[in-house]
Amino acid sequence: QSGYVTLDIGYKNTGATKSAITFLDGEKGILKYRGYPIEQLASQSTFIEVAYLLIYGELPSTEQLNDFQFQISRHTLVHEDMKKFFDGFPSKSHPMGQLSSLIGALAAFNPDSLKQGQTKDEINLEIIKLIAKMSTLVSWIYKKSLGHPVIYPQNKYDYVTNFLHMTFGQRTEDVKIEPVVVDAMNTLLILHADHEQNCSTSTVRIVGSSDANLYASISAGISALWGPLHGGANQAVIEMLEKIKADGGDTDKWIAKAKDKNDPFRMMGFGHRVYKNFDPRAKIIKKACDDILDKLGINDEVLEIAKRLEEAALQDPYFVERKLYPNVDFYSGIIYRALGFPTDMFTVLFALGRLPGWIAQWKEMKENKEPIGRPRQIYVGATDRDYVDIGKR
Ligand code: SDX
Repeated sequence: QSGYVTLDIGYKNTGATKSAITFLDGEKGILKYRGYPIEQLASQSTFIEVAYLLIYGELPSTEQLNDFQFQISRHTLVHEDMKKFFDGFPSKSHPMGQLSSLIGALAAFNPDSLKQGQTKDEINLEIIKLIAKMSTLVSWIYKKSLGHPVIYPQNKYDYVTNFLHMTFGQRTEDVKIEPVVVDAMNTLLILHADHEQNCSTSTVRIVGSSDANLYASISAGISALWGPLHGGANQAVIEMLEKIKADGGDTDKWIAKAKDKNDPFRMMGFGHRVYKNFDPRAKIIKKACDDILDKLGINDEVLEIAKRLEEAALQDPYFVERKLYPNVDFYSGIIYRALGFPTDMFTVLFALGRLPGWIAQWKEMKENKEPIGRPRQIYVGATDRDYVDIGKR
């Protein structure tokens, strides 16, 4: 074909779009949402306020935030027919497989979302519905894993408190959710809310670029996030730390394994495509880990193993030369576990946090009327040859 193709497998040096949502500086370890430093948002904002900021571009006024929260609280109920679909999953189905299917199914349950040329208000209603229903569906998945009945949303609670009540509440009693747990959940969801053109966000944008509906685009993003090299790393980190603990906690042995090219073992939660310095989110989560476990009176041995691993790796030439530092997934699972979540729910919680970012990026792509994503290739296959009848092969 005419013209040149620049080969960049894994898009390591390719800019796929222009975006005004999130700014990363990998060398300096800087992360900003709509210009606001992540450190300030994590310590001063709430997840639902950050969701508004990412999606609409500005911090909301009190009235705007109250209206956003009110709109969401009116859509947290999920159609009862979705239960029949949901009940089809065996109780031990992986939560990410359930979540990507449920979100994709929402399109089928919301035929209006399939209308082409939706107005701004119609798209905004889909956005509100999706944010609302995702929190309910995530709590359903958790309840199924326990064999417990689901808990319905209660509009008196804010978004995160409502999610925690649906997750940890019991039909038989009104469980008290400690403020420290609500604060920890807000912080974790804020830190996961967006991260420019990562694997799952790029997936959401390219699926949306075919004019596929919002639910289908987000469902595809959830599937991309599931991979252990991406969002699935938070589950893989805890499994790694447990393995090291069971093996006697010999961190030097496992550092050596991570460096050994013949050993398939990788230090999960370490390294990043963009951050060649500390992941600013990891710094915040590491500190939050100490605070929350202390407040909850939990002494988790894997936290000590994680700290020893980090300390050893940061002095080891293999990691230093390759600029491998702890990323957002290295400590997050330790907090999720302290809050009472099972390991296979961790990536679902990453998805719940990343939802507003995915939505903001999908919305920006639509508003910018970007063309359908369709990269080219360098062909290295067979040259011209003629068909041979099977009798002569
Ligand atoms: C997330 O993109 C995002 O923004 C993602 C994310 C987000 O918010 O959306 O930040 C969330 O996905 C965080 C990353 C979670 N994944 C993990 O923790 C899995 C472990 N990490 C690695 O698999 C790896 O570091 C990646 C996938 C994160 C990045 O891979 P790259 O950029 O393709 O780097 P690479 O695989 O080419 O590695 C460069 C070198 C290689 O060594 P050499 O071939 O040069 O000798 O570093 C080595 C790798 O072998 N290396 C590791 C390692 N990570 C990279 N060696 C041991 N352990 C590791 N974890």
